[in-house]
Amino acid sequence: MQKLMIQGGKRLRGEIALQGCKNSALPIIAATLLCGEDCTLLNCPKLTDVYSAARILNCLGCRCSTSGNTVWVDSSEVTEDRIPEELMREMRSSIIFMGAMVGRLGQCTVSVPGGCELGPRPIDMHLAALRKMGVDIREGGGKIVCRTSGERAKGAKISLSFPSVGATENIILCAVTAEGETVINNAAREPEICDLCGFLRACGASISGDGESRIVINGRRDLHGCCYRIMPDRIAGATYLAMTAATRGEIILTDACVPEMEPFLTVLEQTGCSIYTRENRIYLRSGSRLRAVPDRIRTMPHPGFPTDAQAVLMAALAGAEGTSIFEENIFDCRYRHAEALRKMGADIQVLGKVAIVRGVPQLTGASAEATDLRGGAAMAAAALAAEGKSEITRISHIDRGYERFEETVRALGGDIRRE
Ligand code: UD1
Repeated sequence: MQKLMIQGGKRLRGEIALQGCKNSALPIIAATLLCGEDCTLLNCPKLTDVYSAARILNCLGCRCSTSGNTVWVDSSEVTEDRIPEELMREMRSSIIFMGAMVGRLGQCTVSVPGGCELGPRPIDMHLAALRKMGVDIREGGGKIVCRTSGERAKGAKISLSFPSVGATENIILCAVTAEGETVINNAAREPEICDLCGFLRACGASISGDGESRIVINGRRDLHGCCYRIMPDRIAGATYLAMTAATRGEIILTDACVPEMEPFLTVLEQTGCSIYTRENRIYLRSGSRLRAVPDRIRTMPHPGFPTDAQAVLMAALAGAEGTSIFEENIFDCRYRHAEALRKMGADIQVLGKVAIVRGVPQLTGASAEATDLRGGAAMAAAALAAEGKSEITRISHIDRGYERFEETVRALGGDIRRE
């Protein structure tokens, strides 16, 4: 098993271009099923999850290939309506194929995604919404079998009890080729939803309201292929900024999505870093020890503070002056990195959904196991700021979300290698 060896204490400094966004690449790859023609996706991050999504398309009979950051899909033929369990298991977000397959084929069989590192992740809202759209869904033996009563799903008015990102995406994917109008109330407003809708519109879909709480989709059959550029990854951006801040460094992030990163930037700025943005560039300088964030950092659906950036900010604040308080409102089990940060000398107390982080003057290197994708990145951030050597194992978690992670950190002057 590979691990990362990090010698901490170097200030990160330099310029990097931000990678493409994992969380929009995955639903967009699934969405290529709907157009039945050739699609070219640019700026796709080179990540294990993207390759898993490509394998799913090939397994369904499409032709999908990847080269560098480009993914080509020819979905003119779809010969299978079932995703094998081992492929479903490789990537939890493969549940996103459900809406796209129902939209294309009127039927599909997928397996129930298990729990993940962040705790149980139910899909009850996904299933209830598709049922409302006239999809008959049977669950049993770990399988979910979906079939529309007619040839196509039917538009419906759906009100989500929580703005779930995955449920919103599945509904959109099912609705763009459905019969009639679908309205999603309390839809997720994440930028990745807008990216998915941008791709679908480029294929001829009729969607409005994405980025707001009410999305309206008019189903149509005549979608076509397109060439589309995936948006930058705001969470990878947050990670490299938090890492640089933790090491009191200086960074220019190019190819960034500035407005989409604002909920994170406004909080990071409160730690005393200087942050300037212009067009798609973000400059950050953090010359001295960070300050604690005075207000409680509450993770919320977009445009609130993103749950995916909670761990990396916590790593930076572990060495700040003063006490910061986090409140995790999206996932039940998202403080597993706290234990590893404590091994590095951090003073973090977790009380249910609240974490109290009392900044210590200096973290020290330690061995730790990556618990999940963003938690693993947080450990690397803490290790880079710490004094001495750290060893991070189970880095397959980190590889799920960061393209060429250690090369990027090395380009910023970090002392990191993979063994
Ligand atoms: C997506 C992102 C993930 C991010 C999360 C929240 C992808 C591939 N993943 O995950 O990185 O952390 O959004 O921004 O895009 N829930 C239910 N029932 C459902 C669906 C969700 O109870 O049917 C709950 C979940 O357990 C969780 C909360 O709703 O507690 C938010 O989940 P959701 O927004 O659906 O996140 P994902 O789409 O899984």
